[in-house]
Amino acid sequence: GVPGLQRVTPSQLKTMTGRKGKPAWSSYMGKVYNITPYLPFHPGGEPELMKAAGRDGGKLFMEVHPWVNWEGMLGSCVVGILVSESEAKS
Ligand code: HEM
Repeated sequence: GVPGLQRVTPSQLKTMTGRKGKPAWSSYMGKVYNITPYLPFHPGGEPELMKAAGRDGGKLFMEVHPWVNWEGMLGSCVVGILVSESEAKS
């Protein structure tokens, strides 16, 4: 595995909504990112970015700005890799 990265299942990701005291996480290309620190800096505004909270942001992201380098901007906010529910148990 990747050192320092936790395995995150889709059901865990779903709970990281940025509400109820939890940070907002979003996945992109198989990696999971904490988008909370970036929220105030997003040029498209917080509500737009929050649409990707707790789920995969790839589709929305690519619809709006495929030219933006997600990994380059949020590389330091990686928290884990997305795995299937069964993979998480091993
Ligand atoms: C604009 C970054 C996710 C909606 C931008 C811009 C950047 C950026 C750098 C300026 C782009 C430019 O002017 O060429 C990011 C990053 C994301 C992310 C790093 C990953 C977490 C999203 C999502 C949505 C979204 C998920 C929609 C649900 C928008 C919109 C603008 C914008 C609508 C245009 C703002 C305007 O020009 O008035 N974003 N974005 N972004 N973003 Fe995002």
